[in-house]
Amino acid sequence: MSSANQTIFEIARKRRSVRKFRTDNFSMDVLLECINAAREAPSGSNYQPWHFVIVEDAKLKEKLRDVCEKGERKFYSHVRGELAEWLKNKGLSWKKEFLSQVPYIIAVFGYKKAPYSRESVWIAVGYLLLALEEKGIASLTYTPPNRDEVAEILKCPGDYRLEVLLPVGYEDGHKIKEPRKSLDEVVSVNFFDNPRV
Ligand SMILES: Cc1cc2nc3c(=O)[nH]c(=O)nc-3n(C[C@H](O)[C@H](O)[C@H](O)COP(=O)(O)O)c2cc1C
Repeated sequence: MSSANQTIFEIARKRRSVRKFRTDNFSMDVLLECINAAREAPSGSNYQPWHFVIVEDAKLKEKLRDVCEKGERKFYSHVRGELAEWLKNKGLSWKKEFLSQVPYIIAVFGYKKAPYSRESVWIAVGYLLLALEEKGIASLTYTPPNRDEVAEILKCPGDYRLEVLLPVGYEDGHKIKEPRKSLDEVVSVNFFDNPRV
């Protein structure tokens, strides 16, 4: 359901990562509209280093899932400590079913030689996430551990880097949003060690 009448503040507050999706399809036009918003993001020297690949082909999504899960199995076999504990508590594992469940995956690439390429691309990703949320489309910023292998499948040129896969679709269920730090925890005035109040 679209939330077109909500302000950016409300949309930002509502938006969260979704890892369980319904398989319902919708028109790619909605995604193009959202990418149109992402295109408005600022970038180093206005280089606009981003490139978006919308994956809709079912076999290709399966292939991406296979490769990502291969990378994840390796990652999960090595991960230790605080991160391992966090992943366990969140119920996350090497399985990435969402990659074949969603109607679309938006793969976001950045031109490596552009100034501040990564920063610029991620600002555009932020715009895109909020635009999707406004359209009622759930998403996940999924960063596969073996991104180069994934990029190769999508025929990424050597001077581009895969930054993120965004599986997008309608949420299955209703996940609770992860808590956020308070404003006072993250803001200080004049100096880093000077609290706001
Ligand atoms: C740069 C970045 C990389 C992330 N990579 C993954 C990922 O690989 N897999 C995943 O399930 N979530 C990933 N996330 C989602 C975060 O876990 C999530 O944003 C965080 O736990 C807060 O939850 P929320 O987005 O639901 O509020 C990533 C988020 C960011 C910003």
